[in-house]
Amino acid sequence: MATHLLELRNVTAYRGRTRVFDGLSLVIPDGESTVILGPNGAGKTTLLKMLNREIYPVAGEGGSIRILGRELWNVWELRSRFGILSHDLQHEYLQCAKGLSVILSGYYSSIDTWKHQEFSREERDAAGAVMRRLGVEELAGRSFGEMSTGQQRRFLLGRALVSDPGALLFDEPTTGLDLSASFRYMEIVQQLMREGKTVVLVTHHMHEIPPGISRVVLLREGRVFAEGEKERVLTSPLLSELFGMRLRVFEGNGFYQALPV
Ligand SMILES: Nc1ncnc2c1ncn2[C@@H]1O[C@H](COP(=O)(O)OP(=O)(O)OP(=O)(O)O)[C@@H](O)[C@H]1O
Ligand SMILES: [Mg+2]
Repeated sequence: MATHLLELRNVTAYRGRTRVFDGLSLVIPDGESTVILGPNGAGKTTLLKMLNREIYPVAGEGGSIRILGRELWNVWELRSRFGILSHDLQHEYLQCAKGLSVILSGYYSSIDTWKHQEFSREERDAAGAVMRRLGVEELAGRSFGEMSTGQQRRFLLGRALVSDPGALLFDEPTTGLDLSASFRYMEIVQQLMREGKTVVLVTHHMHEIPPGISRVVLLREGRVFAEGEKERVLTSPLLSELFGMRLRVFEGNGFYQALPV
């Protein structure tokens, strides 16, 4: 049976005292990658945190949240199904953790590795293969705190990939990366989609949306402003209204760009 990655029905959620979502209904399908766009404060990060069970919606009030078809989850089991890349993770990650440990920590969704955790030969081999794929094997022994932003980002991607999850959640993955590092990073994301991963991408950089992503959700003030096929959603009128300024959208080679008029 086809399940959805996320199915929200009439969900209300708070961050601190801020009511971010008030009766939000939204489906994010599994097996089809989605990009989420919207102004600062729209609720994009909160949405990913609900998917990862870092934030729970308000119980009752007739709302429901199903993740991969289920309402009840053991949170660690759930997190093993997703690879998540977020700025919180990058900030919270232990500066002294060595590169290899960053990758291996993906097996436990932990920060660094710990004495009680055991890793099989296959798991260590897989960690080596991921580092080679991302071109960072030479940094396996370097501390996380002594890596550049882009290198840290690659190790966190490796951490997300090592356990081979079906879905990857990215929250502004290229912020702080230079132009070529950004496009190379997104090329890896595109390749992962070709390999069958479902990607949910939150970004402010429209021009980096991999052409392979066809579904777009526009969020504004905790509500779905528009959703559907990229060609129908990434239009000048809709984006102008979303961001409250006159924008013109351009398309080329499957990439999109918005410029002020
Ligand atoms: N820890 C918090 N405590 C209280 N309010 C919060 C907290 N984190 C976020 N918020 C509020 O929740 C709302 C949604 O925030 P969220 O981080 O989901 O937005 P976003 O769409 O990811 O924005 P951005 O594009 O700036 O990352 C905002 O109004 C924000 O001020
Ligand atoms: Mg955010």
